[in-house]
Amino acid sequence: VDWVNAPVTVTYSGQVAIFHVLRSLKKDGRGSVLLPAFHCPSVVEPVLHAGYRPLFYGVNRDLRIDLDDLRRQLSNDIAAVLTINYCGFPSDLDPVKQLTRQAGTFLIEDCAHSFLYGDPPVLSGARGDVGIFSFAKLVPLRVGGGYRLNAPLMRVQKLERGIGIKQHVILMKRLGEQLINNSAGPIVQRAYHAVESYRVRLKTIGSTAGSVEGHPSHTIPTYYRFDTEFCESSMPWFIQSILKRYDLRSLAARRQRNYRLLDMSLATYGMASPIFSPLPDEVVPWAYPLIVPQRSSHDFHFRGMGIPVYTFGEVLHPALYEASVGKRVLEDAEFLSRNLLMIPIHQNLSDAHMLNFAEKIGGHFKVRATKSA
Ligand SMILES: Cc1ncc(COP(=O)(O)O)c(C=O)c1O
Repeated sequence: VDWVNAPVTVTYSGQVAIFHVLRSLKKDGRGSVLLPAFHCPSVVEPVLHAGYRPLFYGVNRDLRIDLDDLRRQLSNDIAAVLTINYCGFPSDLDPVKQLTRQAGTFLIEDCAHSFLYGDPPVLSGARGDVGIFSFAKLVPLRVGGGYRLNAPLMRVQKLERGIGIKQHVILMKRLGEQLINNSAGPIVQRAYHAVESYRVRLKTIGSTAGSVEGHPSHTIPTYYRFDTEFCESSMPWFIQSILKRYDLRSLAARRQRNYRLLDMSLATYGMASPIFSPLPDEVVPWAYPLIVPQRSSHDFHFRGMGIPVYTFGEVLHPALYEASVGKRVLEDAEFLSRNLLMIPIHQNLSDAHMLNFAEKIGGHFKVRATKSA
């Protein structure tokens, strides 16, 4: 990644990057930030913490921006508009840029799903006034985010604070586990997990009964919430160092190959994604997005078959329901929230994995179709 031509302020996470960008904006009386109605709650939380009111614009069922709705929602109270490049596919920003210029608001291109774009890949996030990154989505880093500033509209802050020794040790342990799971042989993996489960058992025996904390009464799961502990911290030095040394060209090539192979194989079952197919050469994808009607009655079958599928936007932030959004905007966001499935295509997966995933997913729906016929 060319960090020199695209100076990046690194932060503890993508959430923290959004928070810093918003906090650094000149307020000039504007109190709201316009967000996509289909989102992950971790995009909304930093808006609230920076003291802005989140408002929402529509996203169509093919994940494209509903420009008419965005135009309707713009007003002179909007300080910034945030767009998401879902799965690493660039949203159509030209018309949005025109609208934000006219409205005198700041345009944030959220590239959290993929910080790479281009052939050969370079740092993404060049199109708006600012680009947001979450490096750990593509590289196994556990934490790490940042933002690049493309317009001199706000003052850049350098974050100096570290994360403390305890957090360093925890992160290093987690990265070590990840390394063992990703690259060590099965004997080393089994030995590690045996030692680890023994350690956890000892710890559980030693702990006092009833020490489990009650859940805070908040409606979104804790892992989406804004973690104020690290909001002034930079990205830990050893995480930065791994990122700088990581072979990003190979990462991009492998992800693109996996994506195309899965796409082709799913097509033989009539299941290729109508959303993002074929893959353009410039896109370095986070995952393969597939619309699966009534996802929740299928995805656990896939996990049971060994396919670690996941979701994005499964939980929509409660602020969406408090804002005044149109009926169709809400229906489209809920449609995507309920039906979008992410199939992993990351760099540690091989051709064989992709063929296996497609065969199992395709086979599952074929059996269902035969049964219901
Ligand atoms: C679109 C988007 N933006 C920002 C974030 C926040 O990134 P991080 O997990 O690094 O805080 C996420 C996290 O999932 C995301 O999906």
